[in-house]
Amino acid sequence: MTRRKLLAGNWKMYKTVAEARQFAEQLGRRSTDLAAVSDYAVCPPFTALQTLRVILPTAVALGAQNVHPEANGAYTGEISVAMLAELGVSYVIVGHSERRALFDEGDEFVAQKVASVLQAGLIPILCVGENQAQRERGQAFEVVARQTQAALADVAGDALAGLVIAYEPVWAIGSGHTPTPVDAQQVISHIRSVVADSKGAAGAVSVRILYGGSVKPTNIDDFTHQPDIDGALVGGASLAADSFADMALAMNGRVRG
Ligand code: 13P
Repeated sequence: MTRRKLLAGNWKMYKTVAEARQFAEQLGRRSTDLAAVSDYAVCPPFTALQTLRVILPTAVALGAQNVHPEANGAYTGEISVAMLAELGVSYVIVGHSERRALFDEGDEFVAQKVASVLQAGLIPILCVGENQAQRERGQAFEVVARQTQAALADVAGDALAGLVIAYEPVWAIGSGHTPTPVDAQQVISHIRSVVADSKGAAGAVSVRILYGGSVKPTNIDDFTHQPDIDGALVGGASLAADSFADMALAMNGRVRG
């Protein structure tokens, strides 16, 4: 089975509505570089979703960076899946390491989010990855296995075609350091085997698994050409439209015309 590659930009807490609009206009001028062989998404702050929905190039889907698992309720400051779906959101990042570390989100809460995003027909981008200390102790495989199994506890194997996992080693995020492409491939292949063991082979073959952490136009294809790596989740290098389009070109094995 061929899995479509996905280039997803996670803008984190960057860009006002005016800045998001400028990005969309600039990316529009590069829309021929967003070849239909792959999928693309940007995940802006919630405040820019409505504007981007209207002006992003049609090849680029909208994603959100977080969601609350409950349908509604007294959760001040939170956003539900239905609220995102109404704005045309297709992807929702769940369990990003910044939310796990800075906002204390645990595996069980992450699992609830995955379930509610899937139930609404949206695509979770489930983030997993070891931190520096865990890597140094040789625990990378163990950590990603635990995070993956916990987050997918209530997910059926046949739902996995509509789910994306992003392997983001915490030490590689925003640091300029990356694992080697072969190293990332080995961890991602391990994640796929963990999915196969718990959810069945068909689900493991259909789930898309991205690499994330200091990806940029000059290194993206080293990762995305590995057999188990189905694209990239990109922070800093997704903030400039030209850089986003250059990564799309490189991921698709093309050069700028
Ligand atoms: P950077 O690409 O800036 O390292 O961020 C990666 C990330 O956290 C994407 O979710």
